[in-house]
Amino acid sequence: MNSSLATSISSLNSVAMGDKKADLVLKNCNLLSVYTRETLPKIQIAIIHDRIAYVGPDASHTIGPKTTVIDVKDKYVSPGFADPHLHIDQFVLPSEFVKQALLCGVTSLFSDPIDIVSVAGYKGFQEFLKLGEDLPIRIFQVVPGGLPVDAKFSNSNSLTLSQEKSAVKHPHVLGLGEVFSWTKVTLREPKTMKSISSMLEHDCIINGHTAGASEKKLNAYVSSGILSCHEPINFDQVLERLRLGMWIMIREGSIRRDLKEIIPYVLSHGIYFNRLMFCSDGLDPLDIAKFGHIDHCVRESIKLGLKPIDAITMASKNNFDYYNMGKDLGGIAPGKLADILIFDDLKLIKPNKVYVGGKLVVSNGKIVSSIRKKTISPWFKKTVKLKKFSKNDFLIKSKKKDVLANTIFMQTEIITKIGSAELHSREGQILASLDSDIWKVAAFDRIHGTNQHSIGFLENFGADIGAFASTWSFHENDMIVVGSDDSDMAVASNYIIKNQGGLVVVKSGKILASLPLQFAGIISTDSFEKVSSNFEKINNTIVDLGCRFSRPHLIPLFLPFLALPSVRILSGGIVDVKKRSYIQPIN
Ligand SMILES: [Fe+2]
Repeated sequence: MNSSLATSISSLNSVAMGDKKADLVLKNCNLLSVYTRETLPKIQIAIIHDRIAYVGPDASHTIGPKTTVIDVKDKYVSPGFADPHLHIDQFVLPSEFVKQALLCGVTSLFSDPIDIVSVAGYKGFQEFLKLGEDLPIRIFQVVPGGLPVDAKFSNSNSLTLSQEKSAVKHPHVLGLGEVFSWTKVTLREPKTMKSISSMLEHDCIINGHTAGASEKKLNAYVSSGILSCHEPINFDQVLERLRLGMWIMIREGSIRRDLKEIIPYVLSHGIYFNRLMFCSDGLDPLDIAKFGHIDHCVRESIKLGLKPIDAITMASKNNFDYYNMGKDLGGIAPGKLADILIFDDLKLIKPNKVYVGGKLVVSNGKIVSSIRKKTISPWFKKTVKLKKFSKNDFLIKSKKKDVLANTIFMQTEIITKIGSAELHSREGQILASLDSDIWKVAAFDRIHGTNQHSIGFLENFGADIGAFASTWSFHENDMIVVGSDDSDMAVASNYIIKNQGGLVVVKSGKILASLPLQFAGIISTDSFEKVSSNFEKINNTIVDLGCRFSRPHLIPLFLPFLALPSVRILSGGIVDVKKRSYIQPIN
Protein backbone atom coordinates (compact mmCIF):
# COMPACT_ATOMS: atom_id res chain seq x y z
CA MET A 1 0.00 0.00 0.00
CA ASN A 2 2.69 2.51 0.96
CA SER A 3 5.82 3.62 -0.84
CA SER A 4 9.24 3.08 0.66
CA LEU A 5 11.21 6.09 1.77
CA ALA A 6 14.23 4.71 -0.11
CA THR A 7 12.46 4.94 -3.46
CA SER A 8 10.71 8.23 -2.65
CA ILE A 9 13.62 10.45 -1.69
CA SER A 10 14.20 12.11 -5.10
CA SER A 11 10.55 12.90 -5.52
CA LEU A 12 10.20 14.23 -1.95
CA ASN A 13 13.38 16.28 -2.25
CA SER A 14 12.18 17.77 -5.58
CA VAL A 15 8.84 18.82 -4.10
CA ALA A 16 10.47 20.30 -1.00
CA MET A 17 12.74 22.34 -3.28
CA GLY A 18 9.85 23.35 -5.57
CA ASP A 19 11.35 21.54 -8.56
CA LYS A 20 8.36 19.24 -8.68
CA LYS A 21 4.78 20.02 -7.63
CA ALA A 22 2.84 18.44 -4.76
CA ASP A 23 -0.37 16.44 -5.13
CA LEU A 24 -1.91 18.02 -2.06
CA VAL A 25 -1.21 21.06 0.09
CA LEU A 26 -2.91 21.71 3.43
CA LYS A 27 -2.85 25.42 4.38
CA ASN A 28 -3.49 27.22 7.65
CA CYS A 29 -2.83 24.19 9.83
CA ASN A 30 -2.60 24.57 13.58
CA LEU A 31 0.04 21.85 13.68
CA LEU A 32 0.47 19.70 16.77
CA SER A 33 4.17 18.93 16.61
CA VAL A 34 4.89 15.68 18.42
CA TYR A 35 8.61 16.29 17.96
CA THR A 36 8.74 19.53 19.98
CA ARG A 37 5.41 19.32 21.82
CA GLU A 38 4.38 22.69 20.43
CA THR A 39 1.33 23.91 18.58
CA LEU A 40 2.55 25.72 15.49
CA PRO A 41 0.08 28.10 13.81
CA LYS A 42 -0.33 28.84 10.09
CA ILE A 43 1.67 25.84 8.91
CA GLN A 44 1.51 24.52 5.35
CA ILE A 45 2.01 20.85 4.53
CA ALA A 46 2.86 19.60 1.03
CA ILE A 47 2.24 15.95 0.12
CA ILE A 48 3.34 13.97 -2.92
CA HIS A 49 1.86 10.54 -3.48
CA ASP A 50 1.60 9.12 0.07
CA ARG A 51 4.34 11.09 1.85
CA ILE A 52 4.94 14.52 3.27
CA ALA A 53 7.56 16.53 1.39
CA TYR A 54 7.40 19.91 3.09
CA VAL A 55 6.23 21.34 6.44
CA GLY A 56 6.67 25.06 7.02
CA PRO A 57 5.27 28.57 6.76
CA ASP A 58 4.92 28.74 2.97
CA ALA A 59 4.39 25.83 0.57
CA SER A 60 3.53 28.03 -2.40
CA HIS A 61 6.63 26.81 -4.27
CA THR A 62 5.18 23.26 -4.20
CA ILE A 63 1.84 24.25 -5.71
CA GLY A 64 1.28 23.64 -9.42
CA PRO A 65 -1.79 23.59 -11.65
CA LYS A 66 -2.67 20.02 -10.63
CA THR A 67 -2.09 20.47 -6.89
CA THR A 68 -5.17 20.22 -4.68
CA VAL A 69 -5.02 22.99 -2.08
CA ILE A 70 -7.15 22.71 1.04
CA ASP A 71 -7.56 25.53 3.54
CA VAL A 72 -7.77 23.83 6.94
CA LYS A 73 -8.90 27.16 8.43
CA ASP A 74 -6.69 27.06 11.52
CA LYS A 75 -8.01 23.72 12.71
CA TYR A 76 -5.75 21.40 14.68
CA VAL A 77 -3.70 18.94 12.65
CA SER A 78 -2.07 15.88 14.21
CA PRO A 79 -0.50 12.60 13.11
CA GLY A 80 -2.80 9.56 12.90
CA PHE A 81 -3.26 7.48 16.05
CA ALA A 82 -2.08 3.89 16.51
CA ASP A 83 -3.25 0.98 18.61
CA PRO A 84 0.01 -0.83 19.40
CA HIS A 85 -1.61 -4.02 20.65
CA LEU A 86 -5.01 -5.42 19.86
CA HIS A 87 -6.62 -8.66 18.84
CA ILE A 88 -8.60 -7.82 15.75
CA ASP A 89 -9.58 -11.44 15.22
CA GLN A 90 -12.69 -10.83 17.30
CA PHE A 91 -16.36 -10.19 16.52
CA VAL A 92 -16.10 -8.59 13.05
CA LEU A 93 -13.90 -8.93 9.97
CA PRO A 94 -11.03 -6.46 9.62
CA SER A 95 -12.89 -4.73 6.77
CA GLU A 96 -15.69 -3.89 9.24
CA PHE A 97 -13.47 -3.06 12.21
CA VAL A 98 -11.31 -0.57 10.29
CA LYS A 99 -14.30 1.65 9.57
CA GLN A 100 -14.85 2.12 13.29
CA ALA A 101 -11.13 2.62 13.97
CA LEU A 102 -10.73 5.22 11.21
CA LEU A 103 -13.69 7.23 12.49
CA CYS A 104 -11.77 7.38 15.78
CA GLY A 105 -8.62 8.65 14.04
CA VAL A 106 -6.75 5.35 14.32
CA THR A 107 -4.71 4.92 11.15
CA SER A 108 -2.39 2.09 12.27
CA LEU A 109 -3.33 -1.16 13.97
CA PHE A 110 -0.81 -3.59 15.42
CA SER A 111 -2.70 -6.85 15.41
CA ASP A 112 -1.97 -10.03 17.33
CA PRO A 113 -4.23 -12.67 15.72
CA ILE A 114 -3.77 -15.23 18.46
CA ASP A 115 -7.18 -16.87 18.21
CA ILE A 116 -7.03 -17.26 14.43
CA VAL A 117 -3.78 -19.16 14.90
CA SER A 118 -5.24 -21.16 17.76
CA VAL A 119 -8.08 -22.31 15.46
CA ALA A 120 -6.35 -22.52 12.10
CA GLY A 121 -2.56 -22.55 12.58
CA TYR A 122 -0.14 -21.12 10.03
CA LYS A 123 -2.57 -21.53 7.13
CA GLY A 124 -5.05 -19.41 9.06
CA PHE A 125 -2.40 -16.80 9.90
CA GLN A 126 -1.45 -16.43 6.23
CA GLU A 127 -5.07 -16.14 5.11
CA PHE A 128 -5.84 -13.64 7.85
CA LEU A 129 -2.94 -11.43 6.73
CA LYS A 130 -4.61 -11.14 3.32
CA LEU A 131 -7.83 -9.91 4.92
CA GLY A 132 -5.91 -6.98 6.39
CA GLU A 133 -4.34 -5.93 3.12
CA ASP A 134 -5.57 -3.29 0.68
CA LEU A 135 -7.68 -1.60 3.32
CA PRO A 136 -7.43 2.19 3.77
CA ILE A 137 -5.59 1.75 7.08
CA ARG A 138 -2.24 0.28 8.09
CA ILE A 139 -2.47 -3.15 9.67
CA PHE A 140 0.74 -4.62 11.02
CA GLN A 141 0.80 -8.10 12.51
CA VAL A 142 2.82 -10.08 15.00
CA VAL A 143 3.16 -13.84 15.26
CA PRO A 144 1.24 -14.95 18.38
CA GLY A 145 3.81 -15.45 21.13
CA GLY A 146 1.75 -17.24 23.73
CA LEU A 147 0.65 -20.49 22.10
CA PRO A 148 0.16 -23.09 23.32
CA VAL A 149 -0.76 -21.48 26.63
CA ASP A 150 0.28 -24.66 28.46
CA ALA A 151 1.40 -27.55 26.26
CA LYS A 152 0.36 -30.05 28.95
CA PHE A 153 -3.33 -29.15 28.58
CA SER A 154 -3.75 -26.97 25.47
CA ASN A 155 -5.29 -28.41 22.38
CA SER A 156 -4.86 -25.29 20.25
CA ASN A 157 -2.80 -24.92 17.10
CA SER A 158 0.43 -22.95 17.24
CA LEU A 159 3.26 -22.13 14.86
CA THR A 160 6.49 -24.06 14.61
CA LEU A 161 9.80 -22.21 14.84
CA SER A 162 10.32 -22.48 11.09
CA GLN A 163 6.79 -21.13 10.46
CA GLU A 164 7.56 -18.19 12.75
CA LYS A 165 10.75 -17.54 10.77
CA SER A 166 8.84 -17.62 7.48
CA ALA A 167 6.07 -15.41 8.88
CA VAL A 168 8.38 -12.54 9.84
CA LYS A 169 9.68 -12.35 6.27
CA HIS A 170 6.30 -10.83 5.35
CA PRO A 171 6.72 -7.02 5.27
CA HIS A 172 3.72 -6.48 7.55
CA VAL A 173 4.77 -9.03 10.19
CA LEU A 174 6.90 -7.24 12.73
CA GLY A 175 7.83 -9.91 15.26
CA LEU A 176 6.44 -11.89 18.16
CA GLY A 177 3.18 -11.07 19.96
CA GLU A 178 2.70 -10.94 23.71
CA VAL A 179 4.76 -13.69 25.31
CA PHE A 180 2.15 -14.03 28.01
CA SER A 181 3.20 -17.07 29.96
CA TRP A 182 6.22 -15.26 31.37
CA THR A 183 7.22 -18.33 33.36
CA LYS A 184 8.13 -19.94 30.04
CA VAL A 185 10.83 -17.25 29.85
CA THR A 186 11.96 -17.33 33.48
CA LEU A 187 12.11 -21.15 33.32
CA ARG A 188 13.93 -20.85 29.98
CA GLU A 189 11.50 -23.21 28.23
CA PRO A 190 13.48 -24.37 25.14
CA LYS A 191 10.99 -23.51 22.37
CA THR A 192 10.22 -20.10 23.85
CA MET A 193 13.94 -19.26 24.19
CA LYS A 194 14.63 -20.38 20.62
CA SER A 195 11.69 -18.35 19.36
CA ILE A 196 12.87 -15.21 21.20
CA SER A 197 16.48 -15.67 20.04
CA SER A 198 15.38 -16.08 16.46
CA MET A 199 13.30 -12.88 16.65
CA LEU A 200 16.23 -10.97 18.11
CA GLU A 201 18.58 -12.30 15.43
CA HIS A 202 16.20 -11.00 12.78
CA ASP A 203 15.85 -7.64 14.54
CA CYS A 204 12.15 -8.24 15.19
CA ILE A 205 10.09 -6.72 17.95
CA ILE A 206 8.84 -8.92 20.82
CA ASN A 207 5.79 -7.80 22.76
CA GLY A 208 5.50 -8.65 26.42
CA HIS A 209 2.95 -9.59 29.04
CA THR A 210 4.32 -9.42 32.57
CA ALA A 211 1.25 -9.56 34.82
CA GLY A 212 2.43 -10.72 38.22
CA ALA A 213 6.17 -10.61 37.44
CA SER A 214 8.45 -8.41 39.49
CA GLU A 215 12.03 -8.00 40.64
CA LYS A 216 14.35 -10.85 39.52
CA LYS A 217 11.69 -12.51 37.36
CA LEU A 218 10.92 -9.23 35.62
CA ASN A 219 14.67 -8.64 35.14
CA ALA A 220 15.05 -12.09 33.58
CA TYR A 221 12.13 -11.39 31.25
CA VAL A 222 13.40 -7.96 30.19
CA SER A 223 16.94 -9.28 29.72
CA SER A 224 15.46 -11.60 27.10
CA GLY A 225 14.80 -8.61 24.86
CA ILE A 226 11.09 -8.30 25.58
CA LEU A 227 10.64 -4.59 26.03
CA SER A 228 6.93 -3.85 26.26
CA CYS A 229 4.00 -4.69 28.50
CA HIS A 230 0.33 -3.79 28.43
CA GLU A 231 -0.53 -5.45 31.72
CA PRO A 232 0.33 -2.86 34.42
CA ILE A 233 -2.81 -2.03 36.32
CA ASN A 234 -1.33 0.67 38.55
CA PHE A 235 1.41 3.27 38.52
CA ASP A 236 3.85 1.27 40.68
CA GLN A 237 3.86 -1.50 38.08
CA VAL A 238 4.31 1.08 35.32
CA LEU A 239 7.25 2.68 37.11
CA GLU A 240 8.98 -0.62 37.91
CA ARG A 241 8.87 -1.55 34.23
CA LEU A 242 9.88 1.87 32.90
CA ARG A 243 12.91 1.83 35.21
CA LEU A 244 13.98 -1.46 33.62
CA GLY A 245 13.83 0.10 30.17
CA MET A 246 10.42 -1.20 29.13
CA TRP A 247 7.76 0.56 27.08
CA ILE A 248 4.26 0.61 28.56
CA MET A 249 1.03 0.33 26.62
CA ILE A 250 -1.67 1.63 28.99
CA ARG A 251 -4.63 -0.63 28.37
CA GLU A 252 -8.07 0.85 27.88
CA GLY A 253 -10.25 -1.75 26.20
CA SER A 254 -13.03 -4.23 26.69
CA ILE A 255 -11.10 -6.61 28.94
CA ARG A 256 -9.73 -3.95 31.29
CA ARG A 257 -9.63 -0.18 31.63
CA ASP A 258 -6.49 1.02 33.40
CA LEU A 259 -6.12 4.61 32.26
CA LYS A 260 -7.71 6.32 35.26
CA GLU A 261 -5.51 4.33 37.62
CA ILE A 262 -2.31 5.35 35.86
CA ILE A 263 -2.47 8.79 34.18
CA PRO A 264 -2.96 10.89 37.37
CA TYR A 265 0.21 9.37 38.87
CA VAL A 266 2.15 9.83 35.64
CA LEU A 267 1.32 13.51 36.00
CA SER A 268 1.95 13.86 39.73
CA HIS A 269 5.31 12.05 39.48
CA GLY A 270 6.30 14.06 36.42
CA ILE A 271 7.82 10.99 34.82
CA TYR A 272 9.30 10.86 31.39
CA PHE A 273 6.51 9.63 29.15
CA ASN A 274 8.30 9.02 25.87
CA ARG A 275 7.81 5.33 26.52
CA LEU A 276 4.10 5.42 27.27
CA MET A 277 1.41 4.45 24.74
CA PHE A 278 -2.29 3.59 24.83
CA CYS A 279 -3.62 0.24 23.64
CA SER A 280 -7.00 -1.44 23.56
CA ASP A 281 -5.99 -5.15 23.62
CA GLY A 282 -9.31 -5.67 21.78
CA LEU A 283 -12.65 -3.91 21.71
CA ASP A 284 -16.14 -5.34 21.51
CA PRO A 285 -18.62 -3.67 19.15
CA LEU A 286 -20.58 -1.96 21.93
CA ASP A 287 -17.49 -0.50 23.56
CA ILE A 288 -16.02 0.94 20.40
CA ALA A 289 -19.37 2.51 19.56
CA LYS A 290 -19.88 3.86 23.09
CA PHE A 291 -16.37 4.92 24.12
CA GLY A 292 -14.36 5.04 20.90
CA HIS A 293 -10.87 3.69 20.43
CA ILE A 294 -7.51 5.43 20.97
CA ASP A 295 -9.33 8.79 20.61
CA HIS A 296 -11.10 7.89 23.86
CA CYS A 297 -7.71 7.40 25.58
CA VAL A 298 -6.55 10.81 24.37
CA ARG A 299 -9.80 12.45 25.46
CA GLU A 300 -9.81 10.82 28.89
CA SER A 301 -6.13 11.59 29.47
CA ILE A 302 -6.74 15.25 28.68
CA LYS A 303 -9.65 15.24 31.13
CA LEU A 304 -7.29 13.76 33.72
CA GLY A 305 -4.88 16.64 33.21
CA LEU A 306 -2.50 15.61 30.44
CA LYS A 307 -1.69 18.32 27.92
CA PRO A 308 -3.38 17.55 24.56
CA ILE A 309 -0.04 17.51 22.74
CA ASP A 310 1.34 14.98 25.22
CA ALA A 311 -1.69 12.72 24.95
CA ILE A 312 -1.49 12.92 21.16
CA THR A 313 2.22 12.10 21.23
CA MET A 314 1.44 8.99 23.29
CA ALA A 315 -1.25 8.06 20.77
CA SER A 316 0.98 8.53 17.74
CA LYS A 317 4.78 9.03 17.77
CA ASN A 318 5.62 6.82 20.76
CA ASN A 319 4.06 3.77 19.10
CA PHE A 320 6.18 4.07 15.98
CA ASP A 321 9.32 4.77 17.99
CA TYR A 322 8.65 1.55 19.90
CA TYR A 323 8.18 -0.45 16.69
CA ASN A 324 11.31 1.13 15.13
CA MET A 325 9.19 2.76 12.44
CA GLY A 326 9.91 6.38 13.32
CA LYS A 327 11.44 7.21 9.95
CA ASP A 328 8.12 6.50 8.24
CA LEU A 329 5.39 7.21 10.74
CA GLY A 330 4.44 8.93 13.96
CA GLY A 331 4.61 12.64 13.17
CA ILE A 332 4.00 15.29 10.58
CA ALA A 333 7.39 15.96 9.06
CA PRO A 334 9.19 15.68 5.70
CA GLY A 335 9.60 12.08 4.54
CA LYS A 336 6.85 10.68 6.73
CA LEU A 337 3.81 8.87 5.39
CA ALA A 338 0.93 11.33 5.29
CA ASP A 339 -1.37 9.91 8.01
CA ILE A 340 -3.04 13.07 9.21
CA LEU A 341 -6.00 13.96 11.42
CA ILE A 342 -7.85 17.28 11.40
CA PHE A 343 -9.77 18.24 14.54
CA ASP A 344 -12.28 21.04 14.96
CA ASP A 345 -11.82 20.99 18.70
CA LEU A 346 -9.16 19.54 20.97
CA LYS A 347 -11.67 18.82 23.71
CA LEU A 348 -13.77 16.51 21.53
CA ILE A 349 -10.83 14.69 19.89
CA LYS A 350 -13.09 13.43 17.12
CA PRO A 351 -11.37 13.90 13.77
CA ASN A 352 -13.39 15.67 11.16
CA LYS A 353 -11.01 14.54 8.44
CA VAL A 354 -8.62 11.59 8.33
CA TYR A 355 -5.94 11.10 5.70
CA VAL A 356 -4.06 7.84 5.31
CA GLY A 357 -1.07 8.04 2.98
CA GLY A 358 -2.33 11.39 1.69
CA LYS A 359 -5.76 9.98 0.76
CA LEU A 360 -8.88 11.29 2.42
CA VAL A 361 -10.62 8.36 4.12
CA VAL A 362 -12.89 10.18 6.60
CA SER A 363 -14.64 13.48 5.98
CA ASN A 364 -17.22 15.16 8.19
CA GLY A 365 -17.08 12.15 10.47
CA LYS A 366 -18.01 9.69 7.66
CA ILE A 367 -15.99 7.07 5.78
CA VAL A 368 -15.42 8.34 2.23
CA SER A 369 -13.06 5.62 1.05
CA SER A 370 -14.45 2.45 -0.47
CA ILE A 371 -13.86 -0.57 1.74
CA ARG A 372 -14.55 -3.79 -0.05
CA LYS A 373 -15.53 -7.00 1.68
CA LYS A 374 -12.91 -9.65 1.04
CA THR A 375 -13.53 -13.14 -0.22
CA ILE A 376 -13.04 -15.72 2.50
CA SER A 377 -11.72 -19.19 1.73
CA PRO A 378 -14.58 -21.68 2.30
CA TRP A 379 -12.49 -23.84 4.65
CA PHE A 380 -12.36 -20.91 7.07
CA LYS A 381 -16.10 -21.30 7.53
CA LYS A 382 -15.89 -24.99 8.39
CA THR A 383 -14.07 -25.08 11.69
CA VAL A 384 -16.72 -26.60 13.96
CA LYS A 385 -15.84 -30.22 13.40
CA LEU A 386 -18.45 -31.84 15.60
CA LYS A 387 -21.15 -34.42 15.05
CA LYS A 388 -24.81 -33.82 15.86
CA PHE A 389 -25.55 -33.87 19.59
CA SER A 390 -28.29 -35.49 21.63
CA LYS A 391 -29.10 -34.91 25.28
CA ASN A 392 -27.25 -38.14 26.12
CA ASP A 393 -23.97 -36.47 25.18
CA PHE A 394 -24.21 -34.35 28.33
CA LEU A 395 -24.87 -37.10 30.88
CA ILE A 396 -22.78 -37.34 34.03
CA LYS A 397 -23.29 -40.83 35.40
CA SER A 398 -22.77 -42.09 38.93
CA LYS A 399 -23.50 -45.36 40.66
CA LYS A 400 -23.48 -43.62 44.05
CA LYS A 401 -26.63 -41.97 45.34
CA ASP A 402 -24.88 -39.03 46.98
CA VAL A 403 -21.74 -37.52 45.58
CA LEU A 404 -19.42 -34.66 46.38
CA ALA A 405 -18.79 -32.74 43.17
CA ASN A 406 -15.94 -30.38 42.38
CA THR A 407 -17.42 -27.29 40.76
CA ILE A 408 -16.04 -24.36 38.82
CA PHE A 409 -17.30 -21.54 41.02
CA MET A 410 -17.64 -18.29 39.07
CA GLN A 411 -16.36 -15.40 41.22
CA THR A 412 -16.61 -12.97 38.33
CA GLU A 413 -17.21 -13.60 34.64
CA ILE A 414 -13.46 -14.27 34.41
CA ILE A 415 -12.12 -15.39 37.78
CA THR A 416 -12.99 -18.83 39.10
CA LYS A 417 -12.27 -20.89 42.19
CA ILE A 418 -12.74 -24.54 42.95
CA GLY A 419 -16.05 -25.10 44.72
CA SER A 420 -17.79 -28.20 46.00
CA ALA A 421 -21.40 -29.29 46.12
CA GLU A 422 -23.26 -32.27 47.52
CA LEU A 423 -25.32 -33.67 44.66
CA HIS A 424 -27.67 -36.62 44.37
CA SER A 425 -28.08 -39.04 41.51
CA ARG A 426 -31.35 -39.85 39.84
CA GLU A 427 -31.54 -43.03 37.75
CA GLY A 428 -27.75 -43.18 37.75
CA GLN A 429 -27.28 -39.60 36.62
CA ILE A 430 -26.19 -36.41 38.34
CA LEU A 431 -28.34 -33.54 37.11
CA ALA A 432 -27.79 -29.80 37.01
CA SER A 433 -30.05 -27.83 39.31
CA LEU A 434 -31.31 -24.34 38.54
CA ASP A 435 -32.62 -24.04 42.09
CA SER A 436 -29.21 -24.63 43.64
CA ASP A 437 -27.42 -22.75 40.83
CA ILE A 438 -25.44 -25.84 39.88
CA TRP A 439 -24.85 -26.08 36.14
CA LYS A 440 -23.27 -28.52 33.81
CA VAL A 441 -20.36 -27.20 31.81
CA ALA A 442 -18.85 -28.99 28.85
CA ALA A 443 -15.89 -28.43 26.53
CA PHE A 444 -15.60 -30.13 23.12
CA ASP A 445 -12.67 -30.17 20.73
CA ARG A 446 -14.26 -28.59 17.70
CA ILE A 447 -10.95 -27.59 16.03
CA HIS A 448 -9.40 -30.97 15.30
CA GLY A 449 -12.64 -32.93 15.18
CA THR A 450 -11.53 -35.53 17.71
CA ASN A 451 -14.06 -36.87 20.14
CA GLN A 452 -12.11 -35.30 23.03
CA HIS A 453 -14.42 -33.62 25.51
CA SER A 454 -15.00 -33.08 29.19
CA ILE A 455 -18.08 -32.38 31.31
CA GLY A 456 -18.18 -30.98 34.80
CA PHE A 457 -20.14 -28.65 37.06
CA LEU A 458 -20.26 -24.87 37.28
CA GLU A 459 -21.65 -22.79 40.12
CA ASN A 460 -22.93 -19.22 40.54
CA PHE A 461 -24.20 -18.37 37.07
CA GLY A 462 -27.78 -17.68 37.97
CA ALA A 463 -29.63 -17.16 34.69
CA ASP A 464 -32.96 -18.87 34.10
CA ILE A 465 -31.95 -20.46 30.80
CA GLY A 466 -31.46 -23.99 29.52
CA ALA A 467 -28.09 -23.52 27.81
CA PHE A 468 -25.47 -21.02 26.71
CA ALA A 469 -22.89 -22.18 24.19
CA SER A 470 -19.96 -20.57 22.39
CA THR A 471 -17.14 -21.54 20.03
CA TRP A 472 -14.99 -18.52 20.93
CA SER A 473 -12.72 -18.98 23.92
CA PHE A 474 -9.24 -17.61 24.71
CA HIS A 475 -7.01 -19.29 23.28
CA GLU A 476 -8.27 -22.82 23.01
CA ASN A 477 -11.47 -22.25 21.06
CA ASP A 478 -13.14 -25.41 22.23
CA MET A 479 -16.92 -25.33 22.08
CA ILE A 480 -18.05 -24.46 25.61
CA VAL A 481 -21.60 -25.27 26.71
CA VAL A 482 -23.04 -24.16 30.07
CA GLY A 483 -26.45 -25.58 30.80
CA SER A 484 -29.18 -26.48 33.24
CA ASP A 485 -30.94 -28.82 30.83
CA ASP A 486 -29.28 -31.57 28.76
CA SER A 487 -31.78 -31.25 25.90
CA ASP A 488 -31.22 -27.50 25.64
CA MET A 489 -27.45 -28.10 25.72
CA ALA A 490 -27.88 -30.36 22.69
CA VAL A 491 -30.09 -27.79 20.91
CA ALA A 492 -27.51 -25.05 21.53
CA SER A 493 -24.65 -27.26 20.30
CA ASN A 494 -26.51 -28.30 17.16
CA TYR A 495 -27.41 -24.68 16.39
CA ILE A 496 -23.73 -23.79 16.62
CA ILE A 497 -22.75 -26.67 14.33
CA LYS A 498 -25.35 -25.53 11.78
CA ASN A 499 -23.99 -21.95 11.85
CA GLN A 500 -20.39 -23.16 12.09
CA GLY A 501 -19.68 -21.07 15.15
CA GLY A 502 -20.97 -18.38 17.44
CA LEU A 503 -22.78 -17.80 20.70
CA VAL A 504 -26.31 -18.96 21.42
CA VAL A 505 -28.77 -18.88 24.32
CA VAL A 506 -31.48 -21.56 24.55
CA LYS A 507 -34.45 -22.04 26.85
CA SER A 508 -37.05 -24.83 26.63
CA GLY A 509 -35.84 -25.81 23.16
CA LYS A 510 -36.08 -22.26 21.78
CA ILE A 511 -33.26 -20.02 20.58
CA LEU A 512 -33.55 -16.82 22.61
CA ALA A 513 -30.52 -15.03 21.17
CA SER A 514 -27.61 -15.83 18.90
CA LEU A 515 -24.47 -14.27 17.53
CA PRO A 516 -23.25 -16.24 14.51
CA LEU A 517 -19.44 -16.29 14.22
CA GLN A 518 -19.10 -18.12 10.92
CA PHE A 519 -15.45 -17.26 10.31
CA ALA A 520 -13.26 -19.71 12.24
CA GLY A 521 -15.98 -19.79 14.90
CA ILE A 522 -14.63 -16.53 16.34
CA ILE A 523 -15.52 -13.76 13.86
CA SER A 524 -18.81 -12.87 12.22
CA THR A 525 -19.09 -12.27 8.49
CA ASP A 526 -22.03 -9.92 9.17
CA SER A 527 -21.93 -6.12 9.24
CA PHE A 528 -20.67 -4.27 12.33
CA GLU A 529 -24.21 -3.06 13.06
CA LYS A 530 -25.71 -6.56 12.91
CA VAL A 531 -22.95 -8.04 15.07
CA SER A 532 -23.34 -5.22 17.55
CA SER A 533 -27.06 -5.82 17.85
CA ASN A 534 -26.68 -9.63 18.15
CA PHE A 535 -23.94 -9.21 20.75
CA GLU A 536 -26.04 -6.85 22.84
CA LYS A 537 -28.99 -9.25 22.66
CA ILE A 538 -26.90 -12.21 23.86
CA ASN A 539 -25.75 -10.39 26.98
CA ASN A 540 -29.07 -8.67 27.67
CA THR A 541 -31.00 -11.93 27.37
CA ILE A 542 -28.82 -13.73 29.89
CA VAL A 543 -28.64 -10.74 32.26
CA ASP A 544 -32.41 -10.13 32.08
CA LEU A 545 -32.98 -13.77 33.00
CA GLY A 546 -31.04 -13.37 36.24
CA CYS A 547 -27.34 -13.94 35.50
CA ARG A 548 -25.13 -12.80 38.37
CA PHE A 549 -22.76 -10.99 36.04
CA SER A 550 -23.22 -8.09 33.65
CA ARG A 551 -21.07 -9.40 30.78
CA PRO A 552 -21.89 -13.12 30.51
CA HIS A 553 -20.25 -13.48 27.08
CA LEU A 554 -16.96 -13.42 28.98
CA ILE A 555 -17.80 -16.66 30.79
CA PRO A 556 -17.24 -19.13 27.91
CA LEU A 557 -14.52 -16.83 26.61
CA PHE A 558 -12.41 -17.26 29.74
CA LEU A 559 -13.50 -20.70 30.98
CA PRO A 560 -10.60 -22.49 29.18
CA PHE A 561 -8.05 -19.67 29.67
CA LEU A 562 -5.14 -21.32 31.43
CA ALA A 563 -3.25 -18.10 32.15
CA LEU A 564 -5.69 -17.13 34.93
CA PRO A 565 -6.56 -18.78 38.26
CA SER A 566 -7.92 -21.07 39.59
CA VAL A 567 -9.85 -23.72 37.69
CA ARG A 568 -10.45 -24.01 33.94
CA ILE A 569 -12.22 -26.45 31.65
CA LEU A 570 -10.79 -27.59 28.33
CA SER A 571 -11.76 -30.46 26.08
CA GLY A 572 -8.98 -32.48 27.75
CA GLY A 573 -10.43 -32.07 31.24
CA ILE A 574 -10.93 -29.76 34.20
CA VAL A 575 -7.64 -28.17 35.21
CA ASP A 576 -6.40 -26.90 38.56
CA VAL A 577 -4.24 -24.11 37.15
CA LYS A 578 -1.90 -23.66 40.12
CA LYS A 579 -1.26 -27.35 40.67
CA ARG A 580 -1.12 -27.95 36.91
CA SER A 581 -3.18 -31.10 37.27
CA TYR A 582 -6.55 -32.41 36.18
CA ILE A 583 -9.39 -32.64 38.68
CA GLN A 584 -12.36 -34.96 38.40
CA PRO A 585 -15.91 -33.57 38.44
CA ILE A 586 -16.93 -36.10 41.10
CA ASN A 587 -14.74 -37.19 44.00
FE1 LIG B 1 -3.48 -9.13 24.40
